[in-house]
Amino acid sequence: NTGIAITGSGSAMPAASLENQAMAALVDTSDEWITTRTGIKSRQIASESESLSSLAAEASLQAIAMAGIAATDIDLILLATSTPDDLYGSACKVQAALGANRAVAFDLTAACSGFIFAIVTASQYIRTGAYRNVLVIGADIHSRWVDWSDRTTCVLFGDGAGAVVMQASATDKLLGFELRSDGEQNHYLNLAYASDTQELVPGVTVSTGNYKSVTMNGKEVYRFAVQKVPEVIDKALFHANLSVDDIDWLLLHQANQRILDAVAQRLNIPNHKVISNLANYGNTSAASIPIALDEAVRAGKIQPNDTIVASGFGAGLSWGAAIFKW
Ligand code: ACO
Repeated sequence: NTGIAITGSGSAMPAASLENQAMAALVDTSDEWITTRTGIKSRQIASESESLSSLAAEASLQAIAMAGIAATDIDLILLATSTPDDLYGSACKVQAALGANRAVAFDLTAACSGFIFAIVTASQYIRTGAYRNVLVIGADIHSRWVDWSDRTTCVLFGDGAGAVVMQASATDKLLGFELRSDGEQNHYLNLAYASDTQELVPGVTVSTGNYKSVTMNGKEVYRFAVQKVPEVIDKALFHANLSVDDIDWLLLHQANQRILDAVAQRLNIPNHKVISNLANYGNTSAASIPIALDEAVRAGKIQPNDTIVASGFGAGLSWGAAIFKW
């Protein structure tokens, strides 16, 4: 089996920011409520001229440059997103923007777990020898799909994109993973279809439409995350034959500071090992892990050979963890 290494990272944020103060003018909320309940202070919001694929391409260019490869070296592009520019997917647009003309490209939908599901999917293509150079992107623009009059959801999300290059390598740096899904809890977090039905001819009714806004049972998702994320990390550690003490960095999906704190506490991981940037960006869904990874790498926090446990969780419900060395 071929070894795997992550050799580059990148991230891209929309230009405009929206601080908690400004949220308080939109809905009945306050900087104090948002800060104490979530840890979020500000988020970046995509303008009309910014698209999911443009942010994804910008993050990808940085990751490709860090990896020291050319776009034409890429064999596969996996775009984890729940908010594509186009329901047929946006990965091919990213491929064109990069000029990665040898790459096959497709979207992968697993909400806030999307990036973890995508790096594990990418790893299977590399392990088998099918592909050697894979670009994995996590990107979301939730600002286009939240109800901006619903204070229980609109304050939480931000927009952005992050990317990594994964390559076949003599040293294997992907040490273990575990993925989970539970559709019985699907109703706790949705971006559901909204239909208009019309009878075309007698007996044949079609339903055409659009999508509603994000709906979430925050308490249940919170409970789920705090219980399931430590479990899935324990499983991944077991597969990697590692213990909690071997972890240099805990890199969780950036949904809520209280979730980061509670998971770290349950796993007995000290705070200085927990990567957190959600004060600046809010919950950027599939993008949050690769953005935080890229920032920590570029800041020199994450050093070569550090062991990172990354875990995503969210709609599906879905959750998963992957352990890798930088
Ligand atoms: N401003 C002010 N008050 C608010 C706001 C707000 N923005 N939102 C809710 N409230 C009120 C509620 O109405 C409620 O009032 P009430 O007591 O009068 O009914 C009170 O604050 C407490 O609300 P709770 O929902 O109990 O607040 P909680 O402490 O649970 O925090 C939160 C809510 C932040 C959403 C939390 O439950 C959470 O983070 N859940 C997890 C969400 C998550 O992680 N999602 C990740 C996946 S996202 C994806 O996959 C796309």
